[in-house]
Amino acid sequence: MDILIRPAEPTDYAPLGDITADAYLNDGLLAFGGEKDWYLAELKDVAKRAETAEVLVATADDHLLGGVTFVPSGSPMAELARPGEAEIRMLAVSHAARGRGVGQALVQACVERATAAGKSLVLCTQPTMRTAHRLYERLGFTRAPERDWHPVPEAPDFTLLTYELTL
Ligand SMILES: CC(C)(COP(=O)(O)OP(=O)(O)OC[C@H]1O[C@@H](n2cnc3c(N)ncnc32)[C@H](O)[C@@H]1OP(=O)(O)O)[C@@H](O)C(=O)NCCC(=O)NCCS
Repeated sequence: MDILIRPAEPTDYAPLGDITADAYLNDGLLAFGGEKDWYLAELKDVAKRAETAEVLVATADDHLLGGVTFVPSGSPMAELARPGEAEIRMLAVSHAARGRGVGQALVQACVERATAAGKSLVLCTQPTMRTAHRLYERLGFTRAPERDWHPVPEAPDFTLLTYELTL
């Protein structure tokens, strides 16, 4: 399978939103109520994130397989990135396309963009996202536990783990 990574076009926004929301929903990654979780709407809203960050998609034979958001520091989409860093968010691959290197190709494309911009990379991830953790570690990301954080003040036990890649 030849995987192509390219910037998302407006026609990709709705299907990529569905792939991203389905990945989180079906993998049990929405911590606050599944289909009622407020974050589901954020995951679906690709048009919103494309306004202030770079959304990339993976395709094969013009078939959409997944996507990721490459966020410069200073963007409203940035949760962690400091000056000199870019951030990776909302990585997701459709269930049918998993286990073939699509996720790795999307993250690798972010590494290449960060390298070209002279930035390091940072991302945060849920403790249960173990497939993603292995992928990040294969590409050289390391844990930065001092940057772990709790995004929901009402749920202090909900922790996001931080990974960094110094470039
Ligand atoms: C994390 C996620 C994006 C990975 O997508 P993916 O396309 O399956 O990722 P890859 O194919 O690059 O890697 C997955 C596995 O397939 C293996 N693989 C990659 N190419 C392969 C190939 N050609 N043949 C066999 N196995 C292969 C990898 O070694 C990896 O194995 P591991 O799980 O034992 O470490 C996907 O599981 C997902 O959408 N998860 C839900 C959302 C999520 O957790 N996002 C992370 C946010 S921080």
